[in-house]
Amino acid sequence: MRKYLIAGNWKMNTTAEEAMEISSKIKAAFPYDYNKIAILLCPPFTSIHSVSGIIQGTSIALGGQNCYYEPKGAFTGEISINMLGHLGCSHIIVGHSERRKYFHENDDIINKKAIAVLSGNLKPIICIGETLEERQEGKTFDILQTQLEQCLKNISTDNSEKITIAYEPVWAIGTGLAATPAQIAEAHHFIRQKLIEIFPVHGQQILIQYGGSVDSSNCKSILGIENVGGALVGGASLKPDVFIDIIKSAEFYVGV
Ligand code: PGA
Repeated sequence: MRKYLIAGNWKMNTTAEEAMEISSKIKAAFPYDYNKIAILLCPPFTSIHSVSGIIQGTSIALGGQNCYYEPKGAFTGEISINMLGHLGCSHIIVGHSERRKYFHENDDIINKKAIAVLSGNLKPIICIGETLEERQEGKTFDILQTQLEQCLKNISTDNSEKITIAYEPVWAIGTGLAATPAQIAEAHHFIRQKLIEIFPVHGQQILIQYGGSVDSSNCKSILGIENVGGALVGGASLKPDVFIDIIKSAEFYVGV
């Protein structure tokens, strides 16, 4: 049976009130015992507490969009993994391409964050993906290989079960131009092979999400592609009806 994790990355959008409105609509679409598809909401830090009140008792999970790898201390403006855990988060996105681009995060920092998230008993969603320039220069697979090797360095076999990889071609994020099914299939196949090389025991089971302009028009075909284990959804996750459609389109493939 195929497994999916559909995550909404709300980025720097929503006040607490807006976040409560969106999450109430999403919650209303799924019965309390819903368990066909794993659903994850990643609001901005300032809205996590409010959203947690709304989704309490449901199977909808909460995640952070980022964290710092140190446990505590004089790091003004940063948020620790323990703080997010205490707010009820189960997952944390690390290495999103916007963090790489605007906040200069590199694979080494992302690796430190992923290891720290796992040590804090949370689950990292580790984002990788090539830029348009890298794709045009034929470097896509080199980039994916380097990012995987560097970001997954020193992660133990036991912990490898808890990670999710999000393949997000940078050129497809927020552009309305998703990668084609053929591009997604070959990238996910490549990532799967590397995961099996790095983690012979659990590499086959690790979820690989696709992210980049997923919406209601393309979700069904994307989620049907081999080795696609869900979606990391940005813009469309702020529109409850569309996000609900994306989740429901995954149900088709788990045999519901
Ligand atoms: P998008 O963003 O769905 O708006 O393209 C995806 C992401 O950045 O995770």
